[in-house]
Amino acid sequence: MVKRVAILISGGGSNMVALVRSMTGDNPARPVLVASNDPAAAGLVRAAEMGVPTAAVDHRPFRGDRGAFEAALLEPLLAAEPDILCLAGFMRILTPGFVDRFQGMMLNIHPSLLPKYPGLHTHARAIEAGDTRAGATVHLVTPLLDDGPILGQAHVPVEPGDTPETLAARVLKAEHLLYPTVLHRFADGMTGRIDL
Ligand code: GRF
Repeated sequence: MVKRVAILISGGGSNMVALVRSMTGDNPARPVLVASNDPAAAGLVRAAEMGVPTAAVDHRPFRGDRGAFEAALLEPLLAAEPDILCLAGFMRILTPGFVDRFQGMMLNIHPSLLPKYPGLHTHARAIEAGDTRAGATVHLVTPLLDDGPILGQAHVPVEPGDTPETLAARVLKAEHLLYPTVLHRFADGMTGRIDL
């Protein structure tokens, strides 16, 4: 059975591109919407070029009222009738009410080996800590930030002399393999953890 996938982005959307490209052939997942809180997000153009419907709901007019922003975002989202919702570089914190609505069907990718380094500046924090391994995590979203059951992790080495930028580039490459792999498995009904 086809699984309809909506993707939320805020920026360049390289993970979104990797996800959309992977949704062909025997993968039961198909992209139905790419939505962003930033109308200028470069990823929206890339999605449209790939033939995926897009929507933009600017969060700025809703400043101070997360619930109203989410209500506006829900309109195109619910109209797309997604079975799976993928956060891919979506930089807004979601309220528990929004998260509950998509419980068990919302995935997120985070650029660290969770439970290490939830939140921002993950690569700088890994380098500062002297870690020799870094990576990315795809997890089910729960109301807690960067929390929830882990569906998969990709591991990369931290090289001597790494800066947050060089490490981020290595991790991002791994993200592009990890997220499509986890989404394919999830769309097939598999929730066991995978490590790349
Ligand atoms: C990725 O590193 C992702 O893990 C993080 O934000 C970045 C988004 O990059 N949440 P892109 O927009 O997918 O290129």
